Amino acid sequence: MYSYGRSSAQLAVVSNRGAYTIQESYDRLVTRRTVGGLASAVEPVLHAQGGTWISWCGRIDNSGKDRGAKLSIPPGEPRYHLQEVFLSTEEHDNYYHGFCNACLWPLCHQMTERCSFEKAYWDAYRRVNQKFARITMETRKEIYWVHDFHLALVPQLLRNMSGSATIAFFWHIPFPPPDIFQILPWGRQVIYGLLGSDLIAFHTARYVQNFFDTVACYYPARIYPEQGLIRLHNRRILVQAIPVGINCHRFEQLAADPAVRARAEEIRRSLGAEKILLGIDRMDYTKGIPERIRAMAYFLEKYPEYCGRVTLLQIAVPSRNGIGEYGVLKQEVERLVGEINGRYDRTYGAVPVRYRYQSLDQAELVAHYLAADVLLVTALRDGLNLVAKEFAISRIDGKGVLVLSPFAGAAEELHGALLANPFEPAHLAAKIKMALEMPPQEQKNRLESLRRTIKNRDVRWWWQSNLKLVKSLVSGLSPASTS
Ligand code: F6P
Repeated sequence: MYSYGRSSAQLAVVSNRGAYTIQESYDRLVTRRTVGGLASAVEPVLHAQGGTWISWCGRIDNSGKDRGAKLSIPPGEPRYHLQEVFLSTEEHDNYYHGFCNACLWPLCHQMTERCSFEKAYWDAYRRVNQKFARITMETRKEIYWVHDFHLALVPQLLRNMSGSATIAFFWHIPFPPPDIFQILPWGRQVIYGLLGSDLIAFHTARYVQNFFDTVACYYPARIYPEQGLIRLHNRRILVQAIPVGINCHRFEQLAADPAVRARAEEIRRSLGAEKILLGIDRMDYTKGIPERIRAMAYFLEKYPEYCGRVTLLQIAVPSRNGIGEYGVLKQEVERLVGEINGRYDRTYGAVPVRYRYQSLDQAELVAHYLAADVLLVTALRDGLNLVAKEFAISRIDGKGVLVLSPFAGAAEELHGALLANPFEPAHLAAKIKMALEMPPQEQKNRLESLRRTIKNRDVRWWWQSNLKLVKSLVSGLSPASTS
């Protein structure tokens, strides 16, 4: 067993989905690691410091119980506690599918035509946030670190339960401009919930600015953008841009592993293409997968000399399966793949698009990064995009080109990428051509610049920056104390 030091006793992390799911199998609880940006970013801090992670672990319970297992995690070599929160079927439908994924998700990605504002969704969101806050408060920690749009009301609820609590919040998705956010009928309440925090952090300076502008629409707050500060009702709230980083060492290690390199060679050989374009995304309408496939068709039409020589390998990671729109998207992607392959597979050479619908483990992910000539991260809107960072760090060989959407948060940092507008097939096709024809020295220079930026702000930098700010609040240097 491990013992908790003083620092480990301090921290509770709260998020809808954590790093583990739990399943019951023959009266035993089986834990399984989840994949996802939030989990991989947040878990290292709990590994380093211990603490408790309060999250929903994928189990539905209709018995009226609000919580499930309390486990020491990871199994076999425990470093922190996991407190499972239960959702009922109604909550899963109205809170997770409803308010989170049919209101806030499309709204924040500026896809308002996909929003559905049902009062039942909002009611469930409030109830589930109250449940998370209640369970979190029982851990009696010094610092509460709340994550993402699922739990925006939790900071204020915690503040109401304990005025002296230190509360940090990280918003992992885009934060839209105020004229979009204000479409939400319960926008004021959501902002009020967030303002219970001492620190609110976003991926980019643009999201911070959008947040300031939105707060100003609802509350008579005094806002100091240069200091990243809001003063409201005798409280001070720090608002900062701290983009999530990755575990660079782990990706470089995998990229140097002979087995991973051999697998990359095997992937290249099996695709039988001179050049490989790669897309790896969760199957989500924000990621621009159909638009990318259409741009590929445009590319082959406009530059027929590439037919039979270039393949787009699109990996789509299954996500939010129970939501109708995600099923519709999957069908659309599969139809488009069939269509483009039917139309442009004229030479018995490389197939225009190869498509896999599955998730990859890290070694397989890095093998794919190494196999590719170009990575296409052409999201219509994306909070940050860690795949772009993982690709650049994995290319220790100095080869490969990153084509990046200006609408992904990562574009604010990753200046070595080729920017391409995913909404304009002709533009995207031209950038694909430019990427395929980029001289090796330019590839190397761009990758070096990308790798420097990414290494300067790795995952450790990210959580340390967040916690350093929070700890300065605890130790009384508090920019958030009343004044
Ligand atoms: O921040 C976006 C996010 O909610 C991440 O936490 C997660 O990795 C991803 O979207 C997938 O979401 P879900 O938890 O709904 O599967």
